[in-house]
Amino acid sequence: MLSELHPKIVSIIHSNAEVSLRLQQICDLLQESVPYYDWVGFYFKNGNKEELKLGPYTGAPTDHTIIPFGKGICGQVALSNENFVVPDVKAQDNYIACSINVKAEIVVPLFVNGENIGQIDIDSNTPDPFTQEDERFLEFINKEVAKIL
Ligand code: SME
Repeated sequence: MLSELHPKIVSIIHSNAEVSLRLQQICDLLQESVPYYDWVGFYFKNGNKEELKLGPYTGAPTDHTIIPFGKGICGQVALSNENFVVPDVKAQDNYIACSINVKAEIVVPLFVNGENIGQIDIDSNTPDPFTQEDERFLEFINKEVAKIL
């Protein structure tokens, strides 16, 4: 059960470490604990620009450190304010490939005071692995993260 990780997430959030280190620890925890979470990262709105900038992440380095709003799954979520679950990345025409191994993706927006300021992005090398349990779990994480931003 993903919710078994809630106490670990809360304890990271409540630690005294720098915010970026706490976000890194959350990425590391998720990637280590959930077998089908192969790449886990946060993107944030880049100042006043209509683009996302990569924050802490765990997994293979990506060239896509800046993503314009509207581009790819991440850029679409920056505009839609809705979760985006992609069971099969090959079926998406507005998709930015980071690795040929990735089969599926989930992006959940992160709100601070009702404003969409970023997102958590997870890539999976397993086809169609994400359920509503993942959506609720990632919404929980983003709500916790919003408290320290
Ligand atoms: N696939 C994403 C780009 C980010 S990488 O997955 C790390 C997208 O289409 O927006």
